Amino acid sequence: MKTIIEPFRIKAVEPIRMTTREERAQLIQAAHLNTFRLRAEDVMIDFLTDSGTSAMSAAQWAGIMIGDESYAGSPSFYRFEAAVRELMPFQHIIPTHQGRAAEKILFSIIGGPGKMIPNNAHFDTTRANVEFSGASAHDLVIEEGKNPSSLHPFKGNIDLEKLRRFLEQFHEQVPLVMLTLTNNSGGGQPVSMANVRAVKAICKEYGKPLFFDSCRFAENAYFIKLREQEFKDHSVKSIVQELFSHADGMTMSAKKDALVNIGGWLALNDKTWAQQARNLLIITEGFPTYGGLAGRDLEAIAIGLQEIVQEDYLQYRIRSAQYVGEALLKLGVPIVQPVGGHAVYVDAKAFLPHIPALQYPAQSLAIAMYEIGGIRCSEIGSVMFGRQSDGSEKAAAMELVRLAFPRRVYTQSHMDYVIECFERIVAEKSKLRGLKIVEEPAALRHFTAKFAWV
Ligand code: F0G
Repeated sequence: MKTIIEPFRIKAVEPIRMTTREERAQLIQAAHLNTFRLRAEDVMIDFLTDSGTSAMSAAQWAGIMIGDESYAGSPSFYRFEAAVRELMPFQHIIPTHQGRAAEKILFSIIGGPGKMIPNNAHFDTTRANVEFSGASAHDLVIEEGKNPSSLHPFKGNIDLEKLRRFLEQFHEQVPLVMLTLTNNSGGGQPVSMANVRAVKAICKEYGKPLFFDSCRFAENAYFIKLREQEFKDHSVKSIVQELFSHADGMTMSAKKDALVNIGGWLALNDKTWAQQARNLLIITEGFPTYGGLAGRDLEAIAIGLQEIVQEDYLQYRIRSAQYVGEALLKLGVPIVQPVGGHAVYVDAKAFLPHIPALQYPAQSLAIAMYEIGGIRCSEIGSVMFGRQSDGSEKAAAMELVRLAFPRRVYTQSHMDYVIECFERIVAEKSKLRGLKIVEEPAALRHFTAKFAWV
């Protein structure tokens, strides 16, 4: 069958408040042309992020009811720990309230002035936590990973030659090597098993531990199954198990591939680091058997981890992103290719060549998507990255709009509606205008900046 149905039925629903284009034009104007300033109930299809926006299953909601809220030694913790260890065989599993809390703890221990962290590509919060510790973050993704139209199957791979040279030169400053699965900053692109194995071999040579930023590990494993010949008959679960057998530790945002609305963890084998991590955890997050979470959250994660490696789910997940991507390409809308796991990234620089980068073409497109269709997305371009530390402006490498898909939330008819909205956007694209920023905070300006039309 060419139609891949959503492999679930809907038992609880949330109404979408329908709005008209006229209403939305006023609402986005009142939000100072910034989609982050919109109220969620004024949005019809919310693609701002796939993080913490998943629909939980009936089994997860049932797990919430049996969550045990004991301060210490909760059975929910032990079920969580067993579920993580089933996939990721680490000795120390330390729950946190989300991914960046795990990063904060890890880099407080191993970071610090003079330290250098190589990664395929750091996600913003990872980079921020590395830099906050005084260390520096270095992105060594392969060249194809920086080219939106390159069709390389594993654009998340780290450049092995660059990594080797980096370790040769700086090995004394490098506490660990990191890989982000999938590479969110580069378009949700996977890392191959061959790359992971080769990175591990290089790490061994230099005596460096390998850590994964594992947010979207199941999507990454499914891409390995689809694209790496050796794994075509392997279960996703066994691919996940092999992936993590090569790692010495991981950070995780359970808000992605653990199918929950909040949660994360840090896991590792090194006893000394684990001890230090638990000490910090108690100060900042909570007792080691709950971290920053409630017992019920730990139950939901334990069940989510069993559901996320189900291949019917992953087939539907990856296919629905591709479905939107293929339709946009057919409409002549340029996107980052191949389509990644959790999102479609529209290349606004190529789509709206009449808007200069520093008039924020991707912001203009995000506003049009809201006005025309009630669809909310974020800009990933010069609004997010253009402001330099000396206060000047420089165009970002790419001007993208990310359509990030919440897990198990929207159906194919929602996706068809989004595609239809793009037909309208294509018809009106020459009318889209550039923007200027009229008010901005000192840091992370994309969240709160106010805009006006040029
Ligand atoms: N690492 C990656 C690759 C991520 O994508 C994120 C979050 C984090 C770490 C941090 O996890 O949010 O639980 O603290 N990404 C979200 C996004 C926010 O929209 O892509 P967190």
